[in-house]
Amino acid sequence: MMAGTRDSGLGTREKAPVLTIDGPSGVGKGSVSARVARALDWHVLDSGAVYRAVAAAALEKGLKADDEAGLVSLCESLDLQFEAGDNGILVFLDGRAVDDRLRTESVSAMSSKVAVLPAVRAALLDLQRGFRRPPGLVADGRDMGTVVFPDAPIKIFLDASVEERANRRYKQLKEKGESVKFLRLFRDLEARDRRDRERAVSPTVAADDAVVIDSTRLTLEQVVNRVLDEVQRRVDSSGT
Ligand code: DC
Repeated sequence: MMAGTRDSGLGTREKAPVLTIDGPSGVGKGSVSARVARALDWHVLDSGAVYRAVAAAALEKGLKADDEAGLVSLCESLDLQFEAGDNGILVFLDGRAVDDRLRTESVSAMSSKVAVLPAVRAALLDLQRGFRRPPGLVADGRDMGTVVFPDAPIKIFLDASVEERANRRYKQLKEKGESVKFLRLFRDLEARDRRDRERAVSPTVAADDAVVIDSTRLTLEQVVNRVLDEVQRRVDSSGT
């Protein structure tokens, strides 16, 4: 099912349930979110891709990371859509599929700079909330359960050790034939975790009412099933 920033005028949007999946970099939130969204036939939001899209547009236009006014006006013109694919969340910018363009080193670096600006985060709030519509939304990010959808009825915080996340990334890159060093990946992840957890605005922390799932020793399938069990538990307990 496709969720977009356009055509967001459904009257019951605010009442649609949201399942938030937050967690650190490289923990597999995208794969889990896509699988869960497909199983439930809900919409999906990749909030990391929202920040990456702002960063890519800023780089294209030659904007600096401290040009808050310029960045905010970029946020207002973003046309993003997401779809739950077989292997992760598919991103569409201006109606066209984007893949590696949002994953380059320069876009990653710029996205982490724009993500610390309170004006940018505030400008992206409505856009992200616009994806909430029936029958429901799976929202993947860092602050979905704490800031963007604090009233979400189901919140998951997905975690895994740095070693395990570095290992998974190492295997993925090796399979793609890229030459990588495990230690470099490990140290990069450690540094990124520290920045994300310690930043002043929207740090990556579990919401008080989030269910924490440590996926260090779990397969993707097992994590997806744990999340779906949690959804079922909430449905049973609310009697709907
Ligand atoms: O998850 P990701 O690597 O695609 O995220 C890209 C950047 O955006 C990263 O620096 C973290 C940031 N981000 C954020 O600040 N808040 C979110 N809800 C999602 C991502």
